[in-house]
Amino acid sequence: MVDATRTPMTPPVIRRSDYRPPAWHVPEIALDFDLDPQATRVTATLSVTRNGEGPLRLDGDGLTPRSVLVDGTPHNDWRLEDGALVLDLPGDAHEITTEVVIEPQANTQLMGLYASGGNLCTQCEAEGFRRITFFPDRPDILSRYRVRMVADKARFPVLLANGDPVASGDLGDGRHWAEWSDPFPKPCYLFALVAGDLVANRAQFVTASGREVQLGIWVRAPDLAKTDHAMRALKTSMAWDERVYGREYDLDVFNIVAVDDFNFGAMENKGLNIFNSRYILADPDTATDYDYDGIAAVVAHEYFHNWSGNRVTCRDWFQLSLKEGFTVLRDQQFSGDQGSAAVKRIEDVRSLRASQFPEDAGPLAHPIRPDAYQEISNFYTATIYNKGAEVVRMIATILGPTAFRAGTDLYFSRHDGTAATCEDFVVAMEDASGVDLSAFRRWYEQAGTPRVSATLEHFPGGGRATLSLRQAVPPTPGQQTKQPMVLPLKLRLFGAETGRPLSDERLFLFDQDAATITFETVTERPVLSINRGFSAPVIVETDRTSADLAFLSAHDDDPFARYEAMQQLMLDTLVASVASGHGDHAAVIDAIANTLADDRLDRAFVAEAVLLPSDSFIGDQMGVVDPDAIFAAREALRSDIGRALLPEWRAAYAATEADAFEYTPDAKGKRRLRTVALGYIAASGASDADAIAFAQFEQADNMTDRQGALMTLVNSDSDDRIAALDIFYNRYRDNPLVLDKWFTTQALSTRADTFEQVEELAGHRDFTLTNPNRARALIGAFSMNQKAFHRADGAGYRFLADQLIALDRINPQTAAKMLPPLGRWRRFDRTRGELMRAQLDRILSVPGLSKDMLEQVGKSLS
Ligand code: ARG
Ligand code: ZN
Repeated sequence: MVDATRTPMTPPVIRRSDYRPPAWHVPEIALDFDLDPQATRVTATLSVTRNGEGPLRLDGDGLTPRSVLVDGTPHNDWRLEDGALVLDLPGDAHEITTEVVIEPQANTQLMGLYASGGNLCTQCEAEGFRRITFFPDRPDILSRYRVRMVADKARFPVLLANGDPVASGDLGDGRHWAEWSDPFPKPCYLFALVAGDLVANRAQFVTASGREVQLGIWVRAPDLAKTDHAMRALKTSMAWDERVYGREYDLDVFNIVAVDDFNFGAMENKGLNIFNSRYILADPDTATDYDYDGIAAVVAHEYFHNWSGNRVTCRDWFQLSLKEGFTVLRDQQFSGDQGSAAVKRIEDVRSLRASQFPEDAGPLAHPIRPDAYQEISNFYTATIYNKGAEVVRMIATILGPTAFRAGTDLYFSRHDGTAATCEDFVVAMEDASGVDLSAFRRWYEQAGTPRVSATLEHFPGGGRATLSLRQAVPPTPGQQTKQPMVLPLKLRLFGAETGRPLSDERLFLFDQDAATITFETVTERPVLSINRGFSAPVIVETDRTSADLAFLSAHDDDPFARYEAMQQLMLDTLVASVASGHGDHAAVIDAIANTLADDRLDRAFVAEAVLLPSDSFIGDQMGVVDPDAIFAAREALRSDIGRALLPEWRAAYAATEADAFEYTPDAKGKRRLRTVALGYIAASGASDADAIAFAQFEQADNMTDRQGALMTLVNSDSDDRIAALDIFYNRYRDNPLVLDKWFTTQALSTRADTFEQVEELAGHRDFTLTNPNRARALIGAFSMNQKAFHRADGAGYRFLADQLIALDRINPQTAAKMLPPLGRWRRFDRTRGELMRAQLDRILSVPGLSKDMLEQVGKSLS
């Protein structure tokens, strides 16, 4: 509840229903940049054409017009409204020229034009372009861009912008210039420029129709050797999109630039993607297998946006999932095709459950197509991205591969060069397939994770089994009652005695509150395999016993379902032991032993399958989350598994030893299992565990093994912990991405003094809030540490609030993104809940809070 004596400022609410087409279009824009970190002069010439009634409104954020010309003559009849430049224009077509001066070096928000590591770069999505020049900053204004840049040649030898380079030259006074032109009309959020001292990893790609594309990945000279993996991923993505979606690249150049200061992963600016360097730079010594995989996925994601986002863009920001959900699905499919699709699906579901399910169950829940927002930056969420991907995946499942491809082809051809809506996407799917998706559209409207309960009954006499299904979508903010969703559920029955399948896999479209399905010729007791492949993003409750789950974990032919059975068995065990204070671990230990012994299984799959659910996911199963009890129950299970299977873990550890580093699915799987095995050896309490970990730490020829060992050592009480941290620090102190790992690993430690360590690290000379990666590495990671963050005295909450208050002044977008852990206060016991709420109140009372933070805090309290 908000203190009634204070009237917190509430940012205005933007509603989807208020969408109106623009009064003016801007078919062309010419931009002139006189680049300088302290004072960059931006001259913009817009050709504007009337599209309806009303004045021309050019958004601006922190801009002061130095001059305004209309059709070449100085014009004084303008006004500023909320930062926007508003002009009443007499005719139907004009040329407007404005001039502003901005200061990239002072831009700590990292939106608009800013400085990073001495170079200049831009980030415009969603509303950063208005911090560069006056312009109608909305995605349904598509313009052709011509960009001219002038800069000091020694400091900024490389000048890049969207599209193709057209001309360049020297000015003779130590400055040079370059001109770029982008033939494809685009919204301003896709504008980009980079000026800097950079070198390129260059390559070529020839498209299916024979276009030769010059590829460049631009970094600072010392990083050049770390760009090969990203380049390989780029070429693979380009070929994949041609083969799988029929999408070709459309310009003669494609450039990627890596920068160290970036608010999120990367950005799909037309022909000039700009990346957080953590999603480009990799070599075995500094990047883990997760980093390598993440790089390939993000390179692919941004590349795929060239069609799903750029050629077809979004009409307004409520449609964000149109490009993001679809593009995430595309990058997931791509990654699945590069190695084990089953393991990739498991990873994606794990991260959906870790980030999207809690969001959907909390105060910030919103549909994948929101109805209202205050600050659009707050809506780059797991719901828009990951649930959005699940929704498009369900369409693909319902339509089948051929009709789905026909649907995407129709969508791309019908909407090419335009700004579309989620509705347009669904209509294209319907038109191409003949499938009616009317009820399915609720996935775009309703928030909340549906819950399905399933009960299987067997009638041995008639050889029949019936499956009774119920579904309910929980209330979410602003949506108290819900309609049933359309859930594509993949189902199969297995015989409990023979292990044989008793039915084919069935796809059941469950679209009512309740339904009953009958299976015939069920000749033995059946065990239910449901939501196979995680065919619907729902929570399933069944009455399956631990014996059934153990059976499925060994016999199900769907790898995801097999993993899922194991997870459910572990969850049931953990939830029971949290409730009772002690647990029966035998079934879990047995199931793990079986999985470890199954040589036919991919090692990466085994590593995933034997991993216990996270503390926070266990908490999500409970009415009131008790972090201490969860931690204790999980540790008890971990150490029992470690002890009971110690020889097996030692054998798995020995069997996964490699000669030399290789980045192949097989080698990755072995490394993953090796770190998991090491974790269990340590959990067993084996006296040599620290020594094994330390030896691995020292001898590793790659970061996966080194960090894997460090993750074990940071939980230990031995001196090896301090030694390893020091060695790691000294070895990598000049590599910011690896130093991030050093901070994160410590922030995730399960030791009792982790909070104090984190507090100390916040004062470390290498810690800064101005770099988003570093802020997330320590503060973001700490807020995920269920044990340390939820310390009963509330010190963790106060610390997070302190940091976010400070960060909000520097970089509101990044600060607001890290607030949700505090917003979960309703899920915890009264004492913790009050302590968390008190910190939200304290944040809200800070004068001058950003719009970003006001929205997140306001919603979290209401
Ligand atoms: N479009 C970018 C991507 O997903 C991310 C942009 C994020 N923007 C933001 N304001 N958070 O590829
Ligand atoms: Zn994206």
